[in-house]
Amino acid sequence: MTTSTGSGTGETRRGCPVSHTEYGDDSGLLGHYALLDAEREAARFHFNDTRPRGFWMLQRYEDVLEGFQKHRTWTTRVRSALNPAPGVPLLPQDLNGEDHVKLRRVVNPFFAPAAVKRMEELAHRRCAELVEEVRPKGSCDFVAEFAIRYPTDLFLALLGLPVSDGEFFLPWSETLFGGFFGGDPAAAAEAREKILAYFDTAVNERRAAPRDPAEDMVSRLIEARIDGEPISQEDILTICMTLMLAGLDTTRSALGFMFTHLARHGDDRRLIIDDPSIAPKAVEEFIRMYPLVIQAGREVQEAEHFHGLDLVRGDVMWLGIGSANRDPRKFPDPDRFVIGRKGLNQHLAFGAGPHRCLGMHLARLELAAVLKEWHERIPHYRIAEGVELTERGGQLTMPTLPLEWDV
Ligand code: HEM
Repeated sequence: MTTSTGSGTGETRRGCPVSHTEYGDDSGLLGHYALLDAEREAARFHFNDTRPRGFWMLQRYEDVLEGFQKHRTWTTRVRSALNPAPGVPLLPQDLNGEDHVKLRRVVNPFFAPAAVKRMEELAHRRCAELVEEVRPKGSCDFVAEFAIRYPTDLFLALLGLPVSDGEFFLPWSETLFGGFFGGDPAAAAEAREKILAYFDTAVNERRAAPRDPAEDMVSRLIEARIDGEPISQEDILTICMTLMLAGLDTTRSALGFMFTHLARHGDDRRLIIDDPSIAPKAVEEFIRMYPLVIQAGREVQEAEHFHGLDLVRGDVMWLGIGSANRDPRKFPDPDRFVIGRKGLNQHLAFGAGPHRCLGMHLARLELAAVLKEWHERIPHYRIAEGVELTERGGQLTMPTLPLEWDV
């Protein structure tokens, strides 16, 4: 991982210290947080010059929160500071202002706490089944054999599709994700076509035989009108694709970091074993401590001064979630796992403002279900000896987590 900060050398851009840290590189486990922590403490802001457009890094909690709230002038025309090119279309992410509000109004009800609660029974049942599959073996690659499969099954259920389709859907989504992070672009493009064709068939089936639009999201998307117009087939497919891209890799990654922590910290694991009802609070502290979406990107639409930064139209902003969630000014002793810490629900792991994560209640439910069902069946486990754990850069994830337990 290349790293060096201009804070100490006096190198500046528009008066702001320059950072050369490459956050897209892979590193040893928790390497990115160490760099983010160091840069946040070295200077309030940095200009990072590792990309042709460069980006302005907001790092402190209060600044990052304010950045999320400036949605009128800082828009998602740039979604990631590390990759500011438009990329594949995403909905509702790519919309801003009134258009965004109108589409969120259509989809929000399916992700509200009450709607997500309808998936609770399935989340626990499916999780228990998958844990029972690995339990007799005494070991598994937690990422490949569990953490990838579980959210995929629930995602299909969310769209009202058969969970059993996970069998062929999973290899496609893995190939597609691989393409975003250095894998074979041709294979990724082919996988994307297959996924879109799969969604297309599912949506057409629902057009032919609609279900209750109050409970079935695809039927609702078909039936909904925005300014009197139906949502096009293409946009419905983009919404399905967005939910897949936004929901699968994130949930899987969160599980990897959580279970690494629990395997390494027997005391924290004991808290969950002794009282599984603390699972939702534990999830919250885990995603504060290990925010895998370390940044959200934005593009500045109007010149302005932001706490001493001179910004011009077209500037790329890095809203540093990974720095804010571990900012000791907001969360004292940020490296400690403290269930029920003060102000915990103000963490920014799901973003803030109008683009705040649509799937956050679902993610919370899924993660809490795993804490409960896994520890009920496999309370004690360890990381296989001699394994060097790593994390992918960009949006953090662990490629592998080999766990062992006694059977
Ligand atoms: C631990 C798991 C998750 C994390 C950490 C996470 C994180 C985030 C963050 C930080 C954003 C804001 C991005 C921005 O402001 O530019 C976001 C947006 C979004 N997330 Fe999640 N997410 C998770 C799970 C999910 C799931 C399970 C789904 C759906 C099935 C989902 C769907 C979305 C969508 C659609 C958006 C865009 C919302 C909009 O622009 O209006 N996420 N997520």
